[in-house]
Amino acid sequence: MRTILFTGKGGVGKTTLAAATALQAARMGHSTLVISTDIAHSLADSLGTPLDNEPRPVGAHGLHAAELDSAQELERYWGDIRRRIANVLRAEGLDATVASELAVLPGLDEVLALVRIKRYYDEGEYDVLIIDSAPTGAAMRLLAAPDLSRWYTRNLLGFSRGLARAVLPSLRRLVKVPIGEAVIQERLSELFEQIEALRAILTDGEQTSVRLVMNPDTMSLNETQRAYTYMNLFGLAVDALFVNRVIPPEVQDPFFANWKADQAENRQQVRQIFSPLPVFEVPLMSAEVVGLEALGRLGDDLYGDRDPVQRLSREEPLRFYVEGDRHMLSLRVAGVSGQSAELEKHGDELSIRLGNSRRTVPLPQYLAGLQPVWAQVRGDSLIVAFEEPPPDETPES
Ligand SMILES: Nc1ncnc2c1ncn2[C@@H]1O[C@H](COP(=O)(O)OP(=O)(O)OP(=O)(O)O)[C@@H](O)[C@H]1O
Ligand SMILES: [Mg+2]
Repeated sequence: MRTILFTGKGGVGKTTLAAATALQAARMGHSTLVISTDIAHSLADSLGTPLDNEPRPVGAHGLHAAELDSAQELERYWGDIRRRIANVLRAEGLDATVASELAVLPGLDEVLALVRIKRYYDEGEYDVLIIDSAPTGAAMRLLAAPDLSRWYTRNLLGFSRGLARAVLPSLRRLVKVPIGEAVIQERLSELFEQIEALRAILTDGEQTSVRLVMNPDTMSLNETQRAYTYMNLFGLAVDALFVNRVIPPEVQDPFFANWKADQAENRQQVRQIFSPLPVFEVPLMSAEVVGLEALGRLGDDLYGDRDPVQRLSREEPLRFYVEGDRHMLSLRVAGVSGQSAELEKHGDELSIRLGNSRRTVPLPQYLAGLQPVWAQVRGDSLIVAFEEPPPDETPES
């Protein structure tokens, strides 16, 4: 089974592109399921048909769709644990609703939404699973955590911070007391097992592709670069970018002249930054893109004869890895051989000057604390090595 995750900033067109891709996949004969994991669902509106938690057929091509009910999933996997934890908190004198809220980990509902992928993977009913609105940071961090039980304990202890200091002592006790109980322990290890398996699926580029959706504006571009950094870090393979709402050339109204100029600049940047990943540009349409007919047209325009289910690219224009005890970054740069790079790090951004061009790369948090020590152009890539900054050498007086 292939899994394709569509992700991007709010409102950029994730649902529309996920739905159009799913419809195109179904029309090409793939047994396809599209699900939305967003709480504010709009997949049903996009497809123009009511949906619920379980997949149902949509249209004439065997497409199936569902809107995931995260409350239901949460209840299924976490319901009894939540009640036990809430009971302990209530016994500590906490308000019932607060106790119940506290008994859920942040990001857990999103992770449970992803655990669905695992379920469909095991059931083997679909050739491709298309996910609208991929997880945000909390879920990705949970998935990427190398030691889940440690993550769990730390977060269970940490998430109440700022909510109510008085709660913390009870939480500490809580982690010692009911987590030791056999049932909870069992459910937890079950869940961790699922998450482990899920991680293996998500981080295998042959099985899972991420498609980033953006609009050609500066904010969206920045956010997409950051999302791309994190996808890399978590080991997810981005195989294409979708730049949606490009004002078409036939729009000549002077009102849009500045918009068009800005979009042209941003589209150019996208190509420079993400090359050689395929970039799909989607024009701004004269009306909302809703219903099977409009989505079908969009799917055709986008993919043509191309199979939307296949991995669209294996290129990695940005890569983080470890070499010896150094953290490395490899960045694809075209036509710069023989040039030397100047690096400057500002907070969590690395600014690179190569000849006449300048690039800014958002760094993951663990690199933001390190210093770039050298940079080298190797082939068509710029390699940067990071090290711990030297300890403060001011002699003690
Ligand atoms: N290229 C386009 N031309 C015209 N309308 C579009 C285009 N792309 C999307 N839309 C419309 O914009 C609206 C928002 O799109 P969509 O719901 O796909 O965004 P989203 O990223 O899923 O948003 P959210 O973050 O709220 O889930 C919808 O009404 C959709 O039909
Ligand atoms: Mg949406």
